[in-house]
Amino acid sequence: MKEFNIAVIPGDGIGMEVIPEGIKVLDTVAEMQGIRLNYTHFDWSCETYHRTGRMMPEGGLEQLQAFDAIFLGAVGFPGVPDHISLWGLLLPIRRAFDQYVNLRPVRLFEGLQSPLAGKKEGDIDFYVVRENVEGEYSNIGGIQYEGTDDEIVSQQSIFTRKGTDRILRYAFELAQSRDKKHLSSATKSNGLFHSMPYWDSRVEAMAQQYPEVKVDQYHIDIFTANLVRMPEHYDVIVGSNLFGDILSDLGPACTGTIAIAPSANINPDHRFPSMFEPVHGSAPDIAGQNIANPIGTVWAAAMMMQHLGCDDMHDTIMQGIEDVIRNGDSLTRDMGGTASTQALGDALVKAIAAAH
Ligand code: NAD
Ligand code: IPM
Ligand code: MN
Repeated sequence: MKEFNIAVIPGDGIGMEVIPEGIKVLDTVAEMQGIRLNYTHFDWSCETYHRTGRMMPEGGLEQLQAFDAIFLGAVGFPGVPDHISLWGLLLPIRRAFDQYVNLRPVRLFEGLQSPLAGKKEGDIDFYVVRENVEGEYSNIGGIQYEGTDDEIVSQQSIFTRKGTDRILRYAFELAQSRDKKHLSSATKSNGLFHSMPYWDSRVEAMAQQYPEVKVDQYHIDIFTANLVRMPEHYDVIVGSNLFGDILSDLGPACTGTIAIAPSANINPDHRFPSMFEPVHGSAPDIAGQNIANPIGTVWAAAMMMQHLGCDDMHDTIMQGIEDVIRNGDSLTRDMGGTASTQALGDALVKAIAAAH
């Protein structure tokens, strides 16, 4: 029997509401397919910070290292500054475990209404491949002349050759494996003098090795406009940490709701555990109301099982998501329905059981 040990970090806000639905679906499919999932729960969160002054205990990362994967809800809540909570938990996990690929699929499902006129299922179907451990996300910099009129704040970006090339290689490989073989790179090489022209030059160098892949390069400003104007143009999008973050909220928004979007933080060589979470955050505005959409989390769970080599589990979960969205009876408010978080989770379990 295949067996996996999963570290579960529900985190803050609706993270605590959507993770149980993810586990409900995982357990249903694991039992059907004879796979054993052992969960260890960690209550690390902003609440932990209020109690202990830390988002996770000392040695927290070492505790996670032995797991096969990490399943995370959301981090951050009013009361703790976001840069403190995120640099205390989510971002250190991505970095410590060299999860340099952030893979974020975007798809318009049958049964969901795109806010873009005339778009139907199949018109939006692409991946955002986001660099996940360097780039604009850095804590290098600081403040000088603090408190005076001459105050200066600097914030350093870091683009290494190794870090740039490995994310580009992953994106080119993905593009090469798809029918369209089309890669779009997001930069801003007209405004950012050093980092973005460098990224562009590495794209051009990598493109030499993938002659079948059609490559286009856009500045991020027109990229966002084009994504809204003609989402069907895109197949694999690659971007730096910040631009990938922006495009991976914009993309799902074009499919009707950001709340169905999953995020796989992958260490491709399996040296360290990878982490799976929804793209969305802790949604303080709706936390505690049992109305959060759990589909981003459930889709992330499917990606986790695929990463662990259980393709059948992935496919079964995805089929369940497609069935429930198409059926339309159990959708949460963000998708135009009235169902609760738990009712949608139950509907997924029922649909999966009915199909097998
Ligand atoms: P958010 O994604 O939490 O919420 C944005 C909007 O989308 C809100 O109106 C929210 O109600 C809605 N929404 C999000 N998820 C939903 C769901 N599953 N179902 C229905 N509606 C949903 O983004 P934000 O408001 O910018 O951030 C809130 C907090 O979460 C901040 O502390 C932020 O730093 C943090 N955050 C964490 C992560 C993460 O852990 N990976 C990601 C994004 C934001
Ligand atoms: C995401 C989030 C995080 C990010 C924040 C909360 C640091 O927006 O996972 O998309 O920017 O990576
Ligand atoms: Mn984001």
